[in-house]
Amino acid sequence: MPQDPVIHLLQPENQLEIDLLHSPECRSGFHWGKPRPGHPEGLVLLHIREVLDNIDEQELTLKDRHDLRIVAIAHDTFKIEQEQLSHVGITVHHGHLAAHFLSHWDVSSRVKDIVYWHDEAYYCWKMARLGMEKDALNRLNRLYDRLKDNWSFFEAFFNADTLTGDKDPAPLDWLKDCLPKVREHRVLSH
Ligand SMILES: [Fe+2]
Ligand SMILES: [Fe+2]
Repeated sequence: MPQDPVIHLLQPENQLEIDLLHSPECRSGFHWGKPRPGHPEGLVLLHIREVLDNIDEQELTLKDRHDLRIVAIAHDTFKIEQEQLSHVGITVHHGHLAAHFLSHWDVSSRVKDIVYWHDEAYYCWKMARLGMEKDALNRLNRLYDRLKDNWSFFEAFFNADTLTGDKDPAPLDWLKDCLPKVREHRVLSH
């Protein structure tokens, strides 16, 4: 019997991943997406493969690798639901929908947090690029405070997610430049 193409492409490494990959919610989300700027690959499924490949390139503990792979599988998978809700006038980010979905699964709270906030550093960078540097830094401060001890885990995912498709890698350098200022703020405000 030919292997399921989703399983064949994503190569799950444990029962949790297998179960997620078979869930109807993920199945419909994986097949959403047409080629567009940043995502010439189109399908969310193909993007996830790229993120997983980038995770393979990082030196990680087994626990971090396990958790990052779950973040990769879920983070953009609810773009389909975001789009469907937007058609009925409801605005909700796909990361929030994905984090809600994961609340019914046996995953750590940091996985849900990173899924929820996964696009936030990108939005901060975008604000800075539009000339709102101070607001961008304040927003980044808030993100840093929220994620606290999981910041390096967040950065590991942000790297893996940004170095995909034909995305502009500029947010990575921007974030690196901002971090000393953000850490300084954190010290001063605590
Ligand atoms: Fe996203
Ligand atoms: Fe992504």
